[in-house]
Amino acid sequence: MLLEIEDIHVHYGKIGALKGVSIQVDEGEIVTLIGANGAGKTTTLKTISGLRPLTSGRITFEGQDISKVAGHVRVRRGIGQSPEGRGIFPGMTVQENLFMGSYARKDSPAKELAEVYELFPRLSERKDQVGGTMSGGEQQMLAIGRALMTKPKVLLLDEPSMGLAPLLVAQIFSIIKEINDRGTTVLLVEQNARQALQVAHRAYVLETGQVVKSAPAHELLDDPSVRAAYLGGDLGIDTA
Ligand SMILES: Nc1ncnc2c1ncn2[C@@H]1O[C@H](COP(=O)(O)OP(=O)(O)OP(=O)(O)O)[C@@H](O)[C@H]1O
Ligand SMILES: [Mg+2]
Repeated sequence: MLLEIEDIHVHYGKIGALKGVSIQVDEGEIVTLIGANGAGKTTTLKTISGLRPLTSGRITFEGQDISKVAGHVRVRRGIGQSPEGRGIFPGMTVQENLFMGSYARKDSPAKELAEVYELFPRLSERKDQVGGTMSGGEQQMLAIGRALMTKPKVLLLDEPSMGLAPLLVAQIFSIIKEINDRGTTVLLVEQNARQALQVAHRAYVLETGQVVKSAPAHELLDDPSVRAAYLGGDLGIDTA
């Protein structure tokens, strides 16, 4: 098991945001976490990357307990995150933003830079443009690209399709698949449940800080309660 989250509890002040969440991510998988607003998806990712402390429970990465390891060390060990709301450096150029992802590495990031530019030709075309002037979708690509520059073993993606036009949403999902095909494990949080389930191997459904369901992703696409709650309650017509 590459990443194992065991019975984690996380609080904001006295309020419990995660109430005993357990998630496993195997090497090579795309695992998706779906759930309503406020369910605890972002909190789960932030806890894995070390931005939120655990109240109890355990996080194991490559067989080692990382529950108390500092966030920047987790990045170095291979946990890369593209945060919700993008969080790029607006005053830096595209290429400078990408190098911010690799600055802690001792080896040359040239190979990853070339890969990022191959995955996102738009970033290559705009490499000298200031990040803050990139469009929303372009900034989203930049945030993912920057996370890839850390050379992650597992990439945590928080709503990469948020706010994007349908064509770009489809493009982002196909890039996620490509990143996975090239060998990076992905833990994906998405509101866009249908497309997330189509690209993922396995999925967890989070409700008010607890996992209420876990299954192969394609099974959840056909699950009546998942369809009703997260796939628009449609009549089983696949429009994607
Ligand atoms: N900084 C914070 N302070 C207090 N409460 C917080 C904080 N961040 C999140 N919460 C609460 O924790 C719960 C889980 O939030 P979280 O952001 O993890 O949800 P989410 O599943 O990512 O939702 P969304 O789909 O809206 O992004 C929510 O009830 C939220 O209000
Ligand atoms: Mg969130």
